[in-house]
Amino acid sequence: MTTGKQPGTDGPRPSGEGPSGTGERPSASGEPSLAELERRAASRRGRPAYGHDALIVCDRLVRVFTTDGVEVQALQGLDLLVAEGELMALVGASGSGKSTLMNILAGLDVPTAGAARVAGRDLLTMDAGARLGYRRDVVGFVWQQTARNLLPYLTAAQNVTLPMQLRGGRRRAARTKAADELLSMLSLGHCRDRRPHQLSGGEQQRTAIAVALANNPSVLLADEPTGELDSHTAEQVFTAFRTANEELGTTIVIVTHDQAVADEVRRTVAIRDGRTSSEVLRRTERDAATGQESLVAREYAMLDRAGRLQLPADYTSSLGMAHRVLLELESDHIGVWPDPTADGAATEENGDGPAGTAQGT
Ligand SMILES: Nc1ncnc2c1ncn2[C@@H]1O[C@H](COP(=O)(O)OP(=O)(O)OP(=O)(O)O)[C@@H](O)[C@H]1O
Ligand SMILES: [Mg+2]
Repeated sequence: MTTGKQPGTDGPRPSGEGPSGTGERPSASGEPSLAELERRAASRRGRPAYGHDALIVCDRLVRVFTTDGVEVQALQGLDLLVAEGELMALVGASGSGKSTLMNILAGLDVPTAGAARVAGRDLLTMDAGARLGYRRDVVGFVWQQTARNLLPYLTAAQNVTLPMQLRGGRRRAARTKAADELLSMLSLGHCRDRRPHQLSGGEQQRTAIAVALANNPSVLLADEPTGELDSHTAEQVFTAFRTANEELGTTIVIVTHDQAVADEVRRTVAIRDGRTSSEVLRRTERDAATGQESLVAREYAMLDRAGRLQLPADYTSSLGMAHRVLLELESDHIGVWPDPTADGAATEENGDGPAGTAQGT
């Protein structure tokens, strides 16, 4: 079972006092003073570089397309970190920049600005040779269009051995054995000698996963891999991704519109207007009384490196927040208040509490 929760619905509540207007309020007893908080912030400045231990690092990534003199900002300073061994989903409205991001991570496109690093490779500075090696050895890719993933005149097993052959270094018998192992790991043993037109859509996509895994990449990227499939077949394809993640430890990023797929992963990141905007984390919790396990999902807003936070539109509109808000630093959270001078804003006098709180990390 999935329990949806909105940000800030069960976090500690603020003390109830309104903003002072000066930004300085005496701390309640036992709470760290402002000076103490500033000292802690200063000590954090010496910490390691952004994403130093992540496998995928996107840092303020920008991609601008120019067609006939018209500029489209597909990515507008996108930040994303993916840890090694993660299986995660990317969601977002059509045109939000998901495929643009995937093409950059796949080494097929180069960002206009920002930084992108995958398994220690800098995606902005790679030359053509390094880019080719990157696509062959470091990343595997599965496209939405089943026909784009496989060569029609080769059997499933031959499709899987082809990337191994292109890389070289392994004898034919070793390649065939490795391909057979991958196909049977994904329950495709019966498909090895069939050509793509003799496979179902789901079998084709699972074979495409085997092809993408042929050279044991660090990262497997998939852009709407279940977009052309019915829900039952999509489930089987997702199981193949999970198997690859669990058996081989491959880090996997899946772009999907399929809520069922998004619900199956521990972390779903939403992209809005070329930026990561929110994130849903899911974890299993055991009820202390009954011992029953349930999956708890919690939605977080993203805080970018400049400290920018996107407040949900329904929160801000319900409190008439626009243009500017008052912020209040507490010992364990930040209060966000409507501007009392703005027309239509909820004010202290009417007894409303803070509009939202950002918990300290
Ligand atoms: N090669 C290109 N030239 C010009 N504009 C482009 C190009 N590729 C993408 N865009 C534009 O960039 C924006 C983001 O496109 P992108 O394909 O990344 O969206 P998406 O999130 O993958 O959408 P969908 O869910 O429909 O696949 C869109 O406005 C799109 O029109
Ligand atoms: Mg797309």
